[in-house]
Amino acid sequence: MSGGHEKVETSTGLMILLTLLVMSVGGIAQIVPLYFMHSTTAPVEGLQPYSPLALMGRDIYIREGCNVCHSQMIRPFRAETERYGHYSVAGEFVYDHPFLWGSKRTGPDLARVGGRYSDDWHRVHLINPRDVVPESIMPGYPWLEEPLDGDDIETRLRVLRRLGAGYSDEAIAGAALELEGKTELDALIAYLQGLGTVIQTRR
Ligand code: HEC
Repeated sequence: MSGGHEKVETSTGLMILLTLLVMSVGGIAQIVPLYFMHSTTAPVEGLQPYSPLALMGRDIYIREGCNVCHSQMIRPFRAETERYGHYSVAGEFVYDHPFLWGSKRTGPDLARVGGRYSDDWHRVHLINPRDVVPESIMPGYPWLEEPLDGDDIETRLRVLRRLGAGYSDEAIAGAALELEGKTELDALIAYLQGLGTVIQTRR
């Protein structure tokens, strides 16, 4: 009996092989079922793919690294739900490619920030956070007042359609029009104001 054990522990090659085997079995058992579970793949009721403006805003959010300081994932614990609202569920993120859940919270979680502040509050806050939150350590983003460059919006929407978002041909063709005259700040605020609003919270 102990002979077999000793053989595995003293043979590096065999140890690596068996470790990989165990890890793959465990990985497959945990990951594969998620692809077939309705609750992790179906959008929650009322969830729509991002509008062209909000989608551009989301891409700016990623470009500026907002997700480095802000998570978008409310865990199912009382301390979290008291502060941020209903915990996050998988079906809220089916149109997110990539997910921006994160775990680093230099700033507060933003999963349900939509509707919490006015557009004007966001505008002032994003240009210089200290104008509304004097003790804030968040950097300002004054350059977001630039006009939005949405030349490739059709391509962005087509890629997301391939990944499952149901944009119609008309919606894609009309997207550029929605972006006309908008700034990067408008797009980012449109994105923030939609965050987490599909599930009703107590706020
Ligand atoms: C260096 C870390 C850092 C980065 C990067 C950062 N933030 Fe923040 N953010 C904070 C901190 C800290 C606060 C809390 C103080 C405040 O409200 O300004 C905050 C607050 C916020 C709030 C208010 C949340 C609430 O519930 O009160 C919003 C909205 C927000 N940030 C959006 C953004 C966006 C959008 C970006 C990217 C353009 C961004 N943040 C980048 C640190 C950061």
